[in-house]
Amino acid sequence: MKPIRILILSTLLAVSVSCTTGRKPSTVGTTPEVERRVEQLLSRMTLSEKIGQMNQVSAGGEVANYADALRKGQIGSILNEVDPVKVNEYQRIAVEESRLGIPLLVARDVIHGFHTVFPIPLGLASTFDPALVEEGARVAAVEATGQGVRWTFSPMLDIARDPRWGRIAEGSGEDTYLDTRMAEAMVRGYQGDLSDPSSMAACIKHFAGYGAAEGGRDYNSTFLTERQLRNVYLPPFEAAVKAGALTLMTSFNDNDGVPSTGNIFLVKDVLRGEWGFDGLVVTDWNSMGEMISHGFGTDRKEVARKSLEASVDMDMMTYGYLSHLEELVHSGAVKESDIDAAVRNILRVKVLLGLFENPYVDVEAGKAVQYAPEHLAAAQKTAEESAILLKNDGVLPLDPGSAGSILVTGPLADAPHEQLGTWVFDGDPSHTVTPLKALQERFPGKVTYVPGLRTSRSRRDRFDDVVAAARRADVVLAFLGEESILSGEAHSLADLNLKGSQSELLAALQATGKPVVAVVMAGRPLTIERDLPNCRALLYAFHPGTMGGPALVNLLFGDENPSGKTPVTFLRTVGQAPLYYNHNMTGRPYNGETLLDAIPEEAGQTSLGNTSYYLDYGAYPLFPFGYGLSYTTFAYSDVALDKDVYGQDDRIKVSLTLSNTGSREGTEVVQVYVRDLVGSVTRPVKELKAFERVSLKAGESRALEMEIPVSDLAFYGLDGVKKVEPGAFRLWVAGDSASGDPVSFRVD
Ligand code: GLC
Repeated sequence: MKPIRILILSTLLAVSVSCTTGRKPSTVGTTPEVERRVEQLLSRMTLSEKIGQMNQVSAGGEVANYADALRKGQIGSILNEVDPVKVNEYQRIAVEESRLGIPLLVARDVIHGFHTVFPIPLGLASTFDPALVEEGARVAAVEATGQGVRWTFSPMLDIARDPRWGRIAEGSGEDTYLDTRMAEAMVRGYQGDLSDPSSMAACIKHFAGYGAAEGGRDYNSTFLTERQLRNVYLPPFEAAVKAGALTLMTSFNDNDGVPSTGNIFLVKDVLRGEWGFDGLVVTDWNSMGEMISHGFGTDRKEVARKSLEASVDMDMMTYGYLSHLEELVHSGAVKESDIDAAVRNILRVKVLLGLFENPYVDVEAGKAVQYAPEHLAAAQKTAEESAILLKNDGVLPLDPGSAGSILVTGPLADAPHEQLGTWVFDGDPSHTVTPLKALQERFPGKVTYVPGLRTSRSRRDRFDDVVAAARRADVVLAFLGEESILSGEAHSLADLNLKGSQSELLAALQATGKPVVAVVMAGRPLTIERDLPNCRALLYAFHPGTMGGPALVNLLFGDENPSGKTPVTFLRTVGQAPLYYNHNMTGRPYNGETLLDAIPEEAGQTSLGNTSYYLDYGAYPLFPFGYGLSYTTFAYSDVALDKDVYGQDDRIKVSLTLSNTGSREGTEVVQVYVRDLVGSVTRPVKELKAFERVSLKAGESRALEMEIPVSDLAFYGLDGVKKVEPGAFRLWVAGDSASGDPVSFRVD
């Protein structure tokens, strides 16, 4: 929390800027001095130099290939160069050999760590620990800026309700509130103090609605109504803008027929007009050019014009601005004032980051911070908090003291690149500590390793070698899941079962009668129902990163107690997709009606349920949102509200007692859900409105109080106005979205 005096000062400065410029208060924290510098530089720029700032190119190969364009001022930003010596050479040419010496914005996809790789963002969300996630983003910024990167294309804020979509890995899951808290934390962590050379501009993406791709098929169209956008998909972006995000990226998808990169409503009206965003908007990779493929423009000139009309500032890899804006200005199709507005946003970010004073990276100092011990420790702690215990019959935690011979098997047991997850351009697998390596180090001479399957997609009819080894072992640890290549961008799946013969391997191991513990590493919630009977415990780790091995071993042997919670719903079968906890009630809500399996085959025309469900799989998930077990147990009691009726400006005070009713210390994620029973439009059956990690010793009870501003219950109703509609509400406090008994209250 900023000391109050700084808060007052920055508010006064923001107001003063808005007074001088007549604009909304700056969202990026500009000042009159910054604006003076921007205007002074802009006034000296030629049209060509202005357009050059709006051009971002992916570097690579030799610097000399870009030297001429740099000298002409035709490049405003480069991405994908992380050799600090080359970065400095790019900057030197831009700063010392161009007419105006405007430094470059050097960008990279630093998505969940730079060299030290943290769990994938879906795993970060599983921690329900924004403070820890902020710390991890800061580590990423220190390492990345240490090699010259001052702009990351992260955090990804796309709400994802369909696990067939490979990019579910990159976001914070299905819930708006959790996504919002994580977004704010990562923006703070990346950007830190803008005057510090370790500050890295965040880029909130992909604006907007990209995760709602029809069928969970990446790049597919979305059909979100404005109300869905405003109530579910946009709030994390708005919060991240308020948190000071310096940049934003438009998304590939067309929503309701309009591609985001040319979407005036989304970018110009909402982002700029309503939220007052005065940071930099960049396209996604060639998303400007892809509007031709969408059929939203005939050629690059037209899609360049449409992008600028939507107030998109920078073009990533279409070269549409560089090739056509000058001509468009001379023909009168585009106003130079619109170009000036874009260039102001770009220059503003460069000034705020101190690039004019300090464009170069200290190469030697940057080397020293990579993989620093404290960075690895932060990554391990995050991996420990992000793993989710989904099943345990008591076999876990294993006793390190009596650990006899351990059989380690499965395609993810020793896969240093795969456990890093998707979007790890700079994570060096040679630094990865796999579960096998961690076990061999901790239990020398006691670990036998028989992979069983080379990859997740390998197939075998028999497992004689693994079975024989299992018979000789005291415990079997099977590391299964999906490799990073099966997750992430463009990697949608229509079948979410464990691939290859993994399920058969697990069944063969279970058949030996030895205790089998499964650890699943993946970039999404896989459909593992059929595997649960074949293991005594199952720990789920969304690709856990560099230190995933030691983290998982600490959890398996009880040095750490699992506390992760599911940030997405786990389906029973892919045919249930999309299935998420904060769905609408419908007129015929499912209430556990009879499933086909319970009906005798000769039943004939027995009537089955007539509610919203699948005859064969029902409409309940395998594991709900917010779910995760611990080695101890927790009990909730004395849940109470401070009032029965609240006014619009009130804060709801929820009190409860949380007890650790088990025999080990543990951490519970206490979750508060609210349902608005009746609205001018139908409302979700419940929505997460607060959560808190609470650590208790065995037997300890603690009185807790959590607050929810009534204003957090506001939504865009039938009239399109965001407000809290008076009426009856219910509130739950529980350890997951499917538990707890509701208490009622009203809002006047
Ligand atoms: C990709 C992704 C985007 C990424 C960009 C630059 O296609 O959609 O998330 O930041 O290109 O690599």
